[in-house]
Amino acid sequence: MNIVKKQVFTIGCICLLMTKIAYAQDINFVEKSFHTAAPLYDNLLLKTKGNFKDYPHSLYENGEIKYLQIDEWTGGFWPGILWYMYDFTKNEKWKKAALEWTHSLESNQYNTNHHDIGFMMYCSYGNAIKFVNNPKYEQILLQSAKSLVKRYSPTVGSIQSWNKRMSKGDINTWEFPVIMDNMMNLELLFYATKVSGDSSFKQVAIKHAEQTMKNHLRKDYSSYHVVNYDPKTGKVLHQQTLQGFSDESTWARGQAWGIYGFTTVYRETKDKRFLKTAMKMADFFISHPRLPSDKVPLWDFNVGQVGYRPDWQYDPAKDKETPRDASAAAIASSAMLELSTLVPAKQKSKYFDAAVSMLKTLSTSKYLNIDHENPYFLLKHSTGNLPSGREIDVPLIYADYYFLEALLRYKNIAEEK
Ligand code: GLY
Repeated sequence: MNIVKKQVFTIGCICLLMTKIAYAQDINFVEKSFHTAAPLYDNLLLKTKGNFKDYPHSLYENGEIKYLQIDEWTGGFWPGILWYMYDFTKNEKWKKAALEWTHSLESNQYNTNHHDIGFMMYCSYGNAIKFVNNPKYEQILLQSAKSLVKRYSPTVGSIQSWNKRMSKGDINTWEFPVIMDNMMNLELLFYATKVSGDSSFKQVAIKHAEQTMKNHLRKDYSSYHVVNYDPKTGKVLHQQTLQGFSDESTWARGQAWGIYGFTTVYRETKDKRFLKTAMKMADFFISHPRLPSDKVPLWDFNVGQVGYRPDWQYDPAKDKETPRDASAAAIASSAMLELSTLVPAKQKSKYFDAAVSMLKTLSTSKYLNIDHENPYFLLKHSTGNLPSGREIDVPLIYADYYFLEALLRYKNIAEEK
């Protein structure tokens, strides 16, 4: 080796070493978070032992666990968390529990009552297929996708999220409501096309994403929560909200679902329109003037702002501080980590750095349940449905799920560097 080559080689080795040291220092927050999670989920496993009917969802004010039943939207997150614990630790106890809780959801493959089957089945069985080669799982996921597309209307070009119901404040009827969250169910459909060879699932997903892009987004890439369509004509009748502050505001978790959903659809289609949408929605989120400096959003970006009229009794004096939504930060950070792997090189660091900064905040004792403020959940300070007075400043099972997912995504990206 001549002298120049030797120098280049040495500099290369030093750079690699420095990257590894920086990574080793950085990865600590991932280890710390999984380490914090383990005893909490041990407690939750013990508490739920042998009862595969009640799915942990949140905490009541008195500290009791709030469970939801098999037909409600969050059943897949607990098995999903157990899969992520197994993924990180490779400890068989998590796998055993993950299998049991995943199997408990089997009958949900026929659930056509709402759009949430994607959340329920892809966060459970969709994770199981990464670790277990069981052809039955493919069939269960395929049947789940068949159930989901039963709610698709070619006239509307969308999957109906909820059945007919009244809007917030009983102002109008939603005949065919579609919510931003529905973008999260599309991954199941792309998977179904892959295993069955039937492209109709993928076509439904693409059409749904196109309609969402057209009707749920404003010019600045902020989002409406609910769009209500006329099922007979496909015409947009209303653009409103259920869980957000007001119809024209931007509900933080809805925006996060959008970033995540459009990133997934871009990964599966390589259609640049979806990439642009994911990036612009992320830009809105991370550069919003009301995003607090710790990067964990208020539950809605426009809470209490002039010009935003809520259809519910908003009492600004009720909260000393506007509640945050750590679940929105967890979802957005997981989404932006994947987004950072799909965007042109120049843009990578914008999304990667924003995601890591959120994850680091969530890993501090302000959000991470290091001191066991409650015995069961990992993240504090999420908000489920503030306008209905439910789940305000509490742990939520899906905040934990997307946080662990984001930590694993971060670890995988950092290890590849
Ligand atoms: N999909 C329901 C929620 O985000 O609260």
